[in-house]
Amino acid sequence: MQWGDEGKGRVIDAYAADYDVIARFGGGDNAGHTLVVGEQKMALRIVPSGVLREHPELFIGGGTVVSLKGLVAELDMLAAAGVDITRIKISDRAHLVLPYHPALDRVSERARGQAAIGTTGRGIGPAYADKAARLGVTFGDLAHTDRLVDTIRGTAHWHAIRFEGEDGAGAEAAINEALSLAPRVLPLVVDGVAYLHEKLESGKRVLIEGAQGSLLDVGFGTYPFVTSSHTIAGGACIGLGLGPTQIGRVVGVAKAYSTRVGSGPFPSELHDATAERMRERGAEFGTNTGRPRRCGWFDGVAARYAARINGLTSVVVTKLDVLSGFERLGIVTDYRLADNSVGFSAAGEPGLELRTEWFDGWNDDLAAVRRIEDLPRNARRYVAALGESFGAPVEAVSVGPERTAMALA
Ligand code: GDP
Ligand code: IMO
Ligand code: MG
Repeated sequence: MQWGDEGKGRVIDAYAADYDVIARFGGGDNAGHTLVVGEQKMALRIVPSGVLREHPELFIGGGTVVSLKGLVAELDMLAAAGVDITRIKISDRAHLVLPYHPALDRVSERARGQAAIGTTGRGIGPAYADKAARLGVTFGDLAHTDRLVDTIRGTAHWHAIRFEGEDGAGAEAAINEALSLAPRVLPLVVDGVAYLHEKLESGKRVLIEGAQGSLLDVGFGTYPFVTSSHTIAGGACIGLGLGPTQIGRVVGVAKAYSTRVGSGPFPSELHDATAERMRERGAEFGTNTGRPRRCGWFDGVAARYAARINGLTSVVVTKLDVLSGFERLGIVTDYRLADNSVGFSAAGEPGLELRTEWFDGWNDDLAAVRRIEDLPRNARRYVAALGESFGAPVEAVSVGPERTAMALA
């Protein structure tokens, strides 16, 4: 619902017990989804967050862009943790992130100078650009060596122009990586459309996992400070080959305050001791890059916007425990420009003023609360106001990083 890192992985892990397939629809190694189960802590980049449940299959959909090296490293990490990795399937339509993609990501960021986006440097933008430019390589291609080698040579030729004398586009390095790692991943590659639809047709329950955040969507986020994929609920149709009629409900995951990594508009950002406190109490450092996350009050204008573009049916609020001990809490309720109320599209405008509603805080430790009605009164009021911002019911509130630390409606 925000700029990523809301706790999607943790929520998917909690919900996954009731599903047969967990399907990731977009993004790639730019994501970092953290799971905590008992003493075990794990950060996932591409494998869906239901992997620590024994039963469900894990499906990496055609809308993703996947680093072979990253995927193999993640499979090794999971196998070493005792996970049965044969439950993991990857769509033939998913695109490869090859070594020239992170290199291009760095070249593009450098060329932007002051206007750099602050990408994760994983080559996500260049890989999606190749897909749209019809220069991409898919997991389906891995089974056809001649076609694979020809495509990579052709694509690297186009990219060499942009490297301007730097270390070429590295066609041979990309070919070597693809050929040497193909045998590891080919057993997992399936006809993605047939796979998912056959599951649905046989009555299996599918839980779809998003990555990044609505405000990072390439079409509807704070462009150009966004990622390169459609991260909103509609992106699930595009990324999995599903029709809108096949999605039953849309559950938004929202942090009880706001954070953002990388550059770009963040109207409710704080630069004071409150932000420091949120960062420290919430351990707000990137799962993926270790960068400190920018922190601020919950933004109700952004929430309304996110609810609209996702067709939200309910919300899970995360990290409410982080706000214990704050004397008062703010929720931004309105953006104003020259005394006029404006919508989220004005988020980057100079001179934007915010209207904030204040709520009394609470001091209780929330970690043991398992029902929303058992939260302290001020916390309940605050959660109700978050739900009103979204115009959707809050179905659960997470009160700690561990799987079971969840209060239900
Ligand atoms: P994702 O990218 O949306 O999956 O979120 P990340 O895993 O990148 O970041 C969320 C961070 O907050 C992780 O370190 C989680 O372990 C942690 N976390 C998730 N839910 C809660 C919660 O309710 N309380 C606290 N204190 N931490 C949480
Ligand atoms: P999860 O799934 C937070 C941000 C980057 C940068 C912008 C573009 O863990 O919530 P990219 O590498 O995608 O081209 O970077 O998007 N970004 C994320 N921020 N969480 C993420 O994923 C993100 N994925 C990308 O910081 O500002
Ligand atoms: Mg994350």
